[in-house]
Amino acid sequence: MGKNEEIEKKIGELLEKMTPEEKIGQLRQCGPSLVGAFEVSFEELLDMMFDGRISKEEFDRLMGTAKQDFREDDLRAGRIGSYNGIGDAKTANRLQKIAVEETRLGIPLLFGYDVIHGFRTVTPVPLAESCAWDDDLWERTARLAAEEATAAGVHMTFAPMVDVAKDARWGRVSEGAGEDVLLNGNYGAAKVKGFQGEELSKPDAMAACVKHFAAYGAAEAGRDYNRVDLSKQRLYEEYLPSYKACIDAGARAVMPAFNDINGVPCSVNGELLRKVLRKDWGFDGMTVSDANAIAECVAHGIARDKRDAAKQAIHAGMDMDMTSDSYHEELLSLVEDGEVYEAVLDEAVADVLRIKFELGLFEHPYKTSEEREKEAFLTPEARKLALEAAEKSIVLLKNEKGILPLRKETKIAVFGAMADDAGENTGAWAVGAHPGDCVSLLEGLKNKGADVQFYGEEKEQIPKAAETADVLLAVLGEHKEESGEAASRAYIGLPKEQILLFEALAAAKKPVIVLLMNGRPLAVPEIDEKASAVIEGWQLGVEAGNAYARVLFGEVNPSGKLTVTFPYSSGQCPVYYAHTNTGRPGGKSKFTSKYLDTPLTPVYPFGFGLSYTKFSYQDLSAVKTEEGVTVKVSVKNEGEISGEEIVQCYYRRKAAKRVGPVKKLAAYQKIFLKSGERREVVFELKREELGYYDMDMNYVTDLEDMVFYAGTNSEDTLGTVNN
Ligand code: GLC
Repeated sequence: MGKNEEIEKKIGELLEKMTPEEKIGQLRQCGPSLVGAFEVSFEELLDMMFDGRISKEEFDRLMGTAKQDFREDDLRAGRIGSYNGIGDAKTANRLQKIAVEETRLGIPLLFGYDVIHGFRTVTPVPLAESCAWDDDLWERTARLAAEEATAAGVHMTFAPMVDVAKDARWGRVSEGAGEDVLLNGNYGAAKVKGFQGEELSKPDAMAACVKHFAAYGAAEAGRDYNRVDLSKQRLYEEYLPSYKACIDAGARAVMPAFNDINGVPCSVNGELLRKVLRKDWGFDGMTVSDANAIAECVAHGIARDKRDAAKQAIHAGMDMDMTSDSYHEELLSLVEDGEVYEAVLDEAVADVLRIKFELGLFEHPYKTSEEREKEAFLTPEARKLALEAAEKSIVLLKNEKGILPLRKETKIAVFGAMADDAGENTGAWAVGAHPGDCVSLLEGLKNKGADVQFYGEEKEQIPKAAETADVLLAVLGEHKEESGEAASRAYIGLPKEQILLFEALAAAKKPVIVLLMNGRPLAVPEIDEKASAVIEGWQLGVEAGNAYARVLFGEVNPSGKLTVTFPYSSGQCPVYYAHTNTGRPGGKSKFTSKYLDTPLTPVYPFGFGLSYTKFSYQDLSAVKTEEGVTVKVSVKNEGEISGEEIVQCYYRRKAAKRVGPVKKLAAYQKIFLKSGERREVVFELKREELGYYDMDMNYVTDLEDMVFYAGTNSEDTLGTVNN
């Protein structure tokens, strides 16, 4: 009997023994709720602090009285199947012991957590790491995250997030791989392989839960949780493929998104969860709702009440209810009243039991120990990998007159509070982070023995600093709370005080280098105009400062390329490279598609990133074959030092049954070239990867009227028609 048949047999036998209440218990995921000397929920307490109804001091005092409540009576009664947010071996094993030894059937718990970009060894936020265009690196950092998180008792991570995001106002752009669907898919597939490893039952294997299914990044106006209204063609061409790549890579769980798609919230969207995910894609893993998302279908206006929401969700194929207790409160009566067949319930329970069997939890419910946990974090190898990931995520955006790299003896005056704030380097969703583990920019410079003077935000010190320093280094951008969930921004320029600081620095007649720390694209035209050099430094995790210093001093030649477009202004959003041409593309005439008050072009395009050396492209060819098209281009390192170049291959259909993008990324290769070295890069593009949907949703894969490009970014390319 195959492994899967054996598991399916065990699932059937277990279902036979389970009562409806125990089945419903398996579909209930609880978070550690906080109880203390306050009557409201933790979330409400946070809101009260954020909107000033209580002071930060009062909030901290109340939190001091808080302790975690795990609803242990419910657990003993078999009414909880999973927890979200348990991040230590001691608590996990204590709760697991109750489940295994004190419940009637001893079904083990499943522990899920948001291990998004590292656990204790925090690596770059996903948007940053995506700029490495490095599938192997993405898999290795995911493997590290799994080794650390499973040591802390985590069985499943709510990651990778592969929501294509074309609107920089949306704060969650920081959590994925940017605006392109191919990159998100490759990033996600690599993460799935890294998290899950070779065998899910191994102690350091962590199930991947790909999210947020689907098209959460298409929220109207870049406002989090907002509606998503897309043609079926765009949904299938520009969003679904990134999730499918993760399913094809073996992801064992999926988290439907908060948003609706064309009026049907994903949590109750049977077309998405049963037809696309399971019937079309063959997914047989588990679906788990986003936090409270089932109950929120009432607010959406698709469910009359929680009972209606629970009924719609289970029928749509939502297996596990994260923290809304809709199933816990309503499913039993729905089954008893015959509104939900027990067979439907059994299907969902089977999906949950299956992942528990695959994780080996029935044989080995305690996959970690406090002893293992003690040795697991922040090893020298972990820090070394975190440093590599940080270096490869850095994008050099400007380097006038080759002012970078700096000489070791350069006198550097540093401005900007974030330069000295280690915690800012964790970025959003760093659940296992200890901010003090991070190396700040200032520490990184000092670790290199740099001659550095720190002035914080003290504009009045600029004249003095400019007298003694050779360069003025300004750390600008946004705080880590300004991106991530519920952090959409209508204005994505720099705050006024940063612009004033920068203008004062730019007026000081010494070269100004700007290092941006941010979790989303920012509209920074004034920086690009007046700074001598601009580095996109993102939020890079525990080794951030060391990576910045190594790039600044040229120990590392930066190779990152943007996976998002940097707008000229907030008003341009959404702005992205794979846009359509319109009938009146921009130009001199008044009557073309443009703005009266803002350029049409971005400050930095998708795929953009400089190097300390220079690469040239020539001899592009595109030859049609039965399987697809073979694209070749010759790349040379024209500079004095070696470096890595991310060679990008794009295509366009000049005429088709539906208008399409002026460029679409088809493939990429990262190559290392010594000074003076030339290499031919070959892209074998498959016909089915170049297709599109016509107005009747037929998938068209002809290769007519196509132009192929290759180059160093989405704007600077060579082009040729395939013959
Ligand atoms: C949040 C997020 C989701 C996360 C979940 C569990 O609301 O939307 O990405 O995995 O809750 O923490």
